[in-house]
Amino acid sequence: MIIAIDGPEASGKGTIAKLIAQKYGLRHLDSGLLYRLTGVALIDQDFADDAAFKQAAIASAQQITATDLDNPPAQARTMAGGVMASKVAVIPQVRDILTSIQQNIAKQKPGAVIDGRDIGTIVFPNAEFKFWVTASLKTRASRRLAEYTAKGKSDTLADVTAAIEERDHRDSSRAAAPMKKATDAHLIDTSKLSIDGVVEAMSAYIDAKLA
Ligand code: CDP
Repeated sequence: MIIAIDGPEASGKGTIAKLIAQKYGLRHLDSGLLYRLTGVALIDQDFADDAAFKQAAIASAQQITATDLDNPPAQARTMAGGVMASKVAVIPQVRDILTSIQQNIAKQKPGAVIDGRDIGTIVFPNAEFKFWVTASLKTRASRRLAEYTAKGKSDTLADVTAAIEERDHRDSSRAAAPMKKATDAHLIDTSKLSIDGVVEAMSAYIDAKLA
């Protein structure tokens, strides 16, 4: 069983995916972490040009294995980690490598809940369940700010809002597997819902379809 949960930055999809995976006894796969791990290796490096960056990104993706997901470096979850993830994510060869890793992990029984940007459209277009999870920019920015603040970072609401807008734009405008709602995905707006409320809404949809 595959449950695809896609959506923009800080829409809450990661938290929800983890809870839904626990509830249905499935594995949780955070596909964004694969892009973050690929990108983190390139932070603080200088590249002569775009071609050199692309080559380094492909080499970095080739090094990634499923076990790297278990102990990610703290930098992977920072704002810089997210920006670099979205920069390597525009490279088709990087996407191909990371898509295969996702497909290999998720096809193992009993299946998985995968959160990302292109799960319902490209990685698992035939997933049994597809969700598009979103929230207003204001809600997403305050959630992300709270996360960074809890980790001792000094980013401001304005920094976080601008970074979200920039990443959303890069993710939705890229040519390779752009972020978009699959036509058959069930939309859930988490702006005014608690985490439990989102889990309930999703479970009701899943259970109705399973019945
Ligand atoms: O948690 P958050 O919503 O901030 O992002 P993430 O899921 O960790 O993804 C980080 C970045 O990786 C995204 O902004 C995308 O550029 C890229 N990504 C992607 O292209 N395709 C995916 N399936 C997942 C992430």
